[in-house]
Amino acid sequence: MSPALPDGAPWPADGALDPRLVEKDAGRPLSLYVHVPFCRVRCGYCDFNTYTAQFGAGADLDTYAGSVLAEAALAARVLDDAGIGPRPASTVFFGGGTPTMLAPDELARALDGLRERIGIAPGAEVTLEANPDTVSAHGLAGLADAGFTRVSFGMQSAVPRVLAALDRTHAPERVPEAVAWAREAGLDVSVDLIYGCPGETLDDWRASLLAATRMRPDHISAYALVVEEGTRMGAQVARGELPAPDPDDEATKYEEADAVLSAAGYRWYEISNFALVGPDEAGALDRGGLAPTALARASRHNLAYWRDWDWWGLGPGAHSHIGALRWWNVKHPAAYASRLARELSPAHSGEALDAPTRDLERVMLAVRTGEGVALADTPAGSGGAPGRERVAGLVADGLINAARARAGRAVLTLRGRLLADHVTRELMGY
Ligand SMILES: C[S@@+](CC[C@H](N)C(=O)[O-])C[C@H]1O[C@@H](n2cnc3c(N)ncnc32)[C@H](O)[C@@H]1O
Ligand code: SF4
Repeated sequence: MSPALPDGAPWPADGALDPRLVEKDAGRPLSLYVHVPFCRVRCGYCDFNTYTAQFGAGADLDTYAGSVLAEAALAARVLDDAGIGPRPASTVFFGGGTPTMLAPDELARALDGLRERIGIAPGAEVTLEANPDTVSAHGLAGLADAGFTRVSFGMQSAVPRVLAALDRTHAPERVPEAVAWAREAGLDVSVDLIYGCPGETLDDWRASLLAATRMRPDHISAYALVVEEGTRMGAQVARGELPAPDPDDEATKYEEADAVLSAAGYRWYEISNFALVGPDEAGALDRGGLAPTALARASRHNLAYWRDWDWWGLGPGAHSHIGALRWWNVKHPAAYASRLARELSPAHSGEALDAPTRDLERVMLAVRTGEGVALADTPAGSGGAPGRERVAGLVADGLINAARARAGRAVLTLRGRLLADHVTRELMGY
């Protein structure tokens, strides 16, 4: 495969994909990501591409679905022309920003439009991210009727002081209420938690974990707070007004998450992601007969990312990944809408990855999952005596599971999950 494009090259105005680089015969499923770049309030820690007001001419809450559907029509055309369409999506994820800033009718219109233009496979997982204070029982029921199957709530914490430090606008008691509405509507439920916020104690974090498990969501994500440059929190940390996250505190809190969530019946299937397991699944897992990523309540959309499958990201700043190709859209909602109104692709630039970069990406992503990576697919696992020594070193250091390594896979231990990047470097022979 010869890279046809240098890093970050301008993308064709019609969005065309080089058919030689789409890896037509790989048979990978297609996922769709829809970015909704609007929020009521900008949280101090967040650097997602999102806007609170003044979205700009041609890009507002009422016209946004129309722009996304114009990109969907372009996507269908481009996939057909590259010889890989029509291909109905096996997962769809509306993320943000705050997708629930759009009225339920607009979200339903967007989903219907994706179904018409690109196709959605029967039984597809269709997720919507939501802030607990931007949903209602009626709205969630409407979304389930429209074909959404799963909602992911930004809970973040159950402790008012921590929620305030994170600039969150919802009261903690709003989350169980929103979860109950989602359940009544027949939706699967996930909640996001953040740990390591300045001022959060271990007791605070344990209280948040327990509050999350008491609601029995199907799925819980637990993210370490990342202090991003260019955010309000990043500036406060740089000025010394807030302490930077402490890696030891974060490691302790991750171990606490694993302990509390495991005791409540959840199992990790990716470093930051835990799924509720049924008794049959637990038994099969314990006997080693079930890959953790096969858990019924795992997020199939996120698994598609970690498996390095294909996805098309619609919306301002969204990234797409088909075969060896990656591209990303213009960032501002007004620029995005304007390009589509002129029948131009919203892609800003992109790149074609070479084979070694793709191999590194695959290992880096797979190593984070509960099924791990086949040693034979890594330079260390297929690299003769020096490679065998590295693998033995990872086992001796307690970073990968010994029995699974003997069976030919690198699967992180609890300690290894805290040092995943180091494990990747060892497996890649860096
Ligand atoms: C786009 S947001 C989710 C939807 C919604 N806007 C919300 O905040 O509830 C996705 C998730 O990313 C996580 N997140 C965002 N910024 C983060 C950061 N700086 N560090 C760690 N997690 C972050 C939060 O847990 C958040 O729920
Ligand atoms: S964390 Fe969520 S609600 Fe807060 S600014 Fe980011 S996308 Fe918006």
